Amino acid sequence: MKINVLPKHLVDKIAAGEVVERPASVVKELMENALDALSRRVVVKVGSDKGAEPIEVIDDGEGMSRQEVLLAIQRHATSKISVDSDLCAIRTLGFRGEALPSIAAVAEMKIETRQPEAPLGVRLVVEAGVVKSVEESGVPKGTRVQVRRLFFATPARLKFLRSATTEWGHIQQVFERIALSRRDVHFQLWRSGRQWLNAPPTGDLGQRIGQIMGWGLAEHLYPFEADAGEVRLYGMMTRPDYHGVTGRNILFFVNGRPVRDSSIQKTLRSCYQGYVPKDRFPAVFLFFELPFDQVDVNVHPAKLEVRFANPHRIGSLLSETMRRILKDAPWDRRAIRYVASPLQGDSVLSAREVRETVPAFSAQSTPASPESETTSSGYSSNAEEKLIKDFNKISQRAVDKEEFGLEKHTLTSPPPGRFADLHVLGQLHDEFIVCASADHLVLIDQHAAHERVAFERLRRAFSTSGIAQQALLIPSSIELSRRDAEVLQRYLPEIRSFGLDIEHYGHNTFVVKSVPALISHADPVSLLKDVAEELAEGERSRRVEELRDRVCARMACHSVVRGKRRMASEEVRALLEEMDKVDFTLSCPHGRPVLAAWSLAEIRKRFHRT
Ligand SMILES: Nc1ncnc2c1ncn2[C@@H]1O[C@H](COP(=O)(O)OP(=O)(O)OP(=O)(O)O)[C@@H](O)[C@H]1O
Ligand SMILES: [Mg+2]
Repeated sequence: MKINVLPKHLVDKIAAGEVVERPASVVKELMENALDALSRRVVVKVGSDKGAEPIEVIDDGEGMSRQEVLLAIQRHATSKISVDSDLCAIRTLGFRGEALPSIAAVAEMKIETRQPEAPLGVRLVVEAGVVKSVEESGVPKGTRVQVRRLFFATPARLKFLRSATTEWGHIQQVFERIALSRRDVHFQLWRSGRQWLNAPPTGDLGQRIGQIMGWGLAEHLYPFEADAGEVRLYGMMTRPDYHGVTGRNILFFVNGRPVRDSSIQKTLRSCYQGYVPKDRFPAVFLFFELPFDQVDVNVHPAKLEVRFANPHRIGSLLSETMRRILKDAPWDRRAIRYVASPLQGDSVLSAREVRETVPAFSAQSTPASPESETTSSGYSSNAEEKLIKDFNKISQRAVDKEEFGLEKHTLTSPPPGRFADLHVLGQLHDEFIVCASADHLVLIDQHAAHERVAFERLRRAFSTSGIAQQALLIPSSIELSRRDAEVLQRYLPEIRSFGLDIEHYGHNTFVVKSVPALISHADPVSLLKDVAEELAEGERSRRVEELRDRVCARMACHSVVRGKRRMASEEVRALLEEMDKVDFTLSCPHGRPVLAAWSLAEIRKRFHRT
């Protein structure tokens, strides 16, 4: 074995890999440098190919002298820290002295910079780590960094660049986060000569969120604030009934730095539990401010994560604050109480009986027999399998355990009339329909069942006659975020084929003129918002047909009343009959389990009656 000490240029390329992952990383590092240089205005310009060439960040900050700019491109050269103790209380976004040399190692970089008091500035050109020229030049005060041919020097990395749309999506995300973190600074984003976003300074966080994320979202936000000694927490959150498809509007900032933090995320999600449906996400913008020595920012190569000296205190401040506000519900003074209630009509248990009997089953999972698989939802898939077998006596197909996993949501189709044959005992918590068959206790999630039925109808309509539209009496207008608006515009013809007739009204505003007739009672504004989000989220990785199904599923969600609702017995009957028409062999993209079942044998076993 021969051990080599690697040459400098190779070391630099390897190190660059940690910092510069894609065009968005360049944007991030350059924007951070601009903010660290105390700029009041930061302009980001990118191209529209997948390397986003040329990437340009222009600021009006402190600038650099000739010596400084030559130092700045050296590895581990920084003006931000100098002694050990500085590392314990970092106040700037950068501190490692790695960003510029890393970018310079893998691209062509031009820096033009002038300090405010200097009559002349300097222009420096570096290519793949080699300085090509450095000269005096009459340039505006501040710094302008231009990056071209990213990764030309590292073909391995080049291969990993995704489509222009994907890379652009990442750039927007980076820009959004940084622009949200500093509302005292004027930010602009341009793409191929078109201004994409313009966010002049504002003292108001709601305004800044509106500028960046769209006014449609901003108008649903409520401010909050809390103090716990040295830690201050403030931000804005949506009321719980305003939620989105993804968690991308949950953003955290620690001392002005956008960060990711899975434990904050978890705490936040747990606070919203019970307020927001499981598969939906609120929008929350959280800002923590605490002494610099209480956070370690030197834990992640791209500085995306931080570590708190006292994470417990942060977590409890967050959860106390969130829970208090969600409970106080400043948006709604009416307290809503849900009680279990029986269905009207024959053969029902009293509310009390339902409450007392059924939760005993749902509180704990059935003890699994050796060969049974318990799904993550805690239900035994064996029991369900058995139920379907019962339902599906005419089916000759062998029962494939995998296929019946509750999570996978692919039950074989019960022959007509089977769900309708169930004996309905009542409704639990206005959420579940409690039924019995000859030898099973069956719980049906009414929301999931409705959704599934609507999904099938939409998909059937889509693939046969096309989805019929119903015109709205009063067209509704909706303002989306810049990003969602862009995606929507690109998919206009497809969206119309879903029965959603929309028109672009300029800027980020759209007008919904008709909705699919099958879900005509849905709120057109939130429907369109979700469809846009689903497309934005889905287009990166999914095939067209899958995207179509996801949109159908998303629309199906809107056909259903969310949360708890008392159902009349005729309505329950109608639902069960509809469920018989659903082809459960097809998978539903939002496949939540529709039903859970326990065999009488299992129930007996639980009571030691075997
Ligand atoms: N836009 C700018 N305006 C003024 N000075 C800058 C600018 N960008 C970089 N510099 C100077 O160049 C130095 C090196 O920048 P670089 O981004 O490589 O490292 P850093 O910001 O110190 O640390 P990090 O690697 O964590 O970003 C900075 O410390 C700063 O002094
Ligand atoms: Mg930096």
